[in-house]
Amino acid sequence: MMKTVLASVLFCVLAFCSVSVFGRPATFLEDFRVTWADSHIRQIEGGRAIQLVLDQSSGCGFASKRQYLFGRVSMKIKLVPGDSAGTVTAFYMNSDTDAVRDELDFEFLGNRTGQPYTVQTNIYAHGKGDREQRINLWFDPAAEFHTYTILWNHHHIVFYVDEVPIRVYKNNEAKGIPYPTRQPMGVYSTLWEADDWATRGGLEKIDWSKAPFLAYYKDFDIEGCGVPGPANCAANQANWWEGTAYQALTAVEYRRYKWVRVNHMIYDYCTDRSRYPVPPPECLAGY
Ligand SMILES: *[C@@H]1O[C@H](CO)[C@@H](O)[C@H](O)[C@H]1NC(C)=O
Repeated sequence: MMKTVLASVLFCVLAFCSVSVFGRPATFLEDFRVTWADSHIRQIEGGRAIQLVLDQSSGCGFASKRQYLFGRVSMKIKLVPGDSAGTVTAFYMNSDTDAVRDELDFEFLGNRTGQPYTVQTNIYAHGKGDREQRINLWFDPAAEFHTYTILWNHHHIVFYVDEVPIRVYKNNEAKGIPYPTRQPMGVYSTLWEADDWATRGGLEKIDWSKAPFLAYYKDFDIEGCGVPGPANCAANQANWWEGTAYQALTAVEYRRYKWVRVNHMIYDYCTDRSRYPVPPPECLAGY
């Protein structure tokens, strides 16, 4: 942590403080705005946490005020408890460019009471997505807050659930594999109803008698190169998220990652031969 602060101070001195790392985590309104259904997002704990509501009249959503080019975004989320089948809570980054979209997705697919939540991740690079992976969570994500993190630097993209990396997408641009490096992305979240596909492929429908469905967020933390901001920030190798410790998984992280893949992964597009008779190049390029 100290190293982080020192590096940031140094960076601030050199680059006129373009990276906001002080006083994290932030309140909701410092970094975010409501994008869908004001009435369904309630600030609590003096704006340090929010409650999202899904009922038959609406879901809701919010977005960061700025975009970021590389960095790390994390928040603590407590998902819809009990019978959450048909609900989807999403937390993602998106370049907001229709033609050549970059996007990094966490989607939490609800389930019937007692059945495991599924976390789907997906990655769009240079307009191409269709890279779904799914894991079933090894804990009840509605019982407590858990931290969900996206790290995005020049070396790789890592999705974390608490301290566990559940997905790694390596920068293999040198091998001709697309990787988001040019477009900044905003941070988004939504809670909505998607019972046509979310739970057991759409077989389990939402039970509106259980509404309103409530999810909670807190400890919003975005550290990255804000855009607009100094043009030299993204390439600055002194940014802490580009540091040696973040360029590849540590040995401990790698063990955890393996553990998830062996014990909790339920779908990987890389091994879906009906969809991809020939695995996409990033699946063979290694990480
Ligand atoms: C819901 O539970 C079923 C049964 O355990 C499981 O197959 C499925 O992966 C779970 N998740 C979703 C989103 O359907």
